[in-house]
Amino acid sequence: MQVTLKIERYNPESDESRQETFTVDVVEEATLLDVLDVIKDEVDGSLTYRKSCRMAVCGSCGMRMDGAAVLACKTPMRPVVEAGEVPVISPMGNLPVLKDLVVDMEPFWAKFRAIKPYLDDGGEEPPVKEWRIQQEELDRVMTEALCIQCGCCVSECNSMEADPDFLGPAALAKAARFVNDVRDRGGKSRLEIYNGPHGVWDCTRCYFCNQRCPKGVHPRDAIAKVGAAIYQEGMHSDGGARHAKVFVKSTHQTGYLLETHLVPETVGAVNAIKEIPFALRLARAGKVPNPLKPHKAKKLDEVRKLNKLIESQEQATLEAANAGPTRPPADPAQAKESE
Ligand code: SF4
Ligand code: SF4
Ligand code: FES
Repeated sequence: MQVTLKIERYNPESDESRQETFTVDVVEEATLLDVLDVIKDEVDGSLTYRKSCRMAVCGSCGMRMDGAAVLACKTPMRPVVEAGEVPVISPMGNLPVLKDLVVDMEPFWAKFRAIKPYLDDGGEEPPVKEWRIQQEELDRVMTEALCIQCGCCVSECNSMEADPDFLGPAALAKAARFVNDVRDRGGKSRLEIYNGPHGVWDCTRCYFCNQRCPKGVHPRDAIAKVGAAIYQEGMHSDGGARHAKVFVKSTHQTGYLLETHLVPETVGAVNAIKEIPFALRLARAGKVPNPLKPHKAKKLDEVRKLNKLIESQEQATLEAANAGPTRPPADPAQAKESE
């Protein structure tokens, strides 16, 4: 089949960007990576991109096709050709471009280093050989462990676009992998990193990271797990945590989100005063409900049932987490017996 691609090129030496169109013949099963290989081998050897495993394992070949991050080696081109499309191939977003489709991954790795991406055993030595954990305990971190650090989620993150210091979906998904690992003893000191400035509460919940992750890691869901762990530890000082708290309270009391409570209870009374001009503009536009007579949802009991259901699910998760790892007994003789 014949494939035509428009490729965003960038030459760092001349600091020039341009879009170039290539048409090549490839086999019907060709992926985007195969097409790039044919272009590089037969048309333009200077085309630059990353690749290694060719099987969606190494995470090297992240790039954008028509503005959406993909793994080139996991993207079949036949449907694109059949639809008569000429896609634009460009480098991933939110990371500096080095050349053509290659981005600098250093800011990505810096976020990983910042979240302490290793088990903290609290200085405890396993008494016999190693810590043992049950399959169901391992299952709790398996989704996040699927991450291949490709950066596709980071490429699509709205929050990182606005705040490049936001820890971001990939690093926070890795954080969830340790928060929920029964062997980890990082506790509050670990959570403090994720609860701080540029941490979990900076996520706008746009869910693009879930949508684009090629490995089903669901980074946004992982961020929610970290937020829940922070909340359960009683760490409510951050504005994001306070926002979550008043959100739950407001929906429980009225079935609605009460904006008149949300701002002062999130940012504090003093800071809320600064928002008065904005509040007045909203009021003039008829967008501020009467704070003295808040309206209530007709089916408030349904909302409360949902709140209760979520609370009970969170409690079950917490109890499972507190059960701790199945560790071998400290006495080696006893361990031998149990074997
Ligand atoms: S859900 Fe949060 S982390 Fe994911 S892309 Fe959106 S802002 Fe970024
Ligand atoms: S979470 Fe998914 S998209 Fe993000 S780096 Fe990991 S594998 Fe890639
Ligand atoms: S080449 Fe390894 S993930 Fe695509």
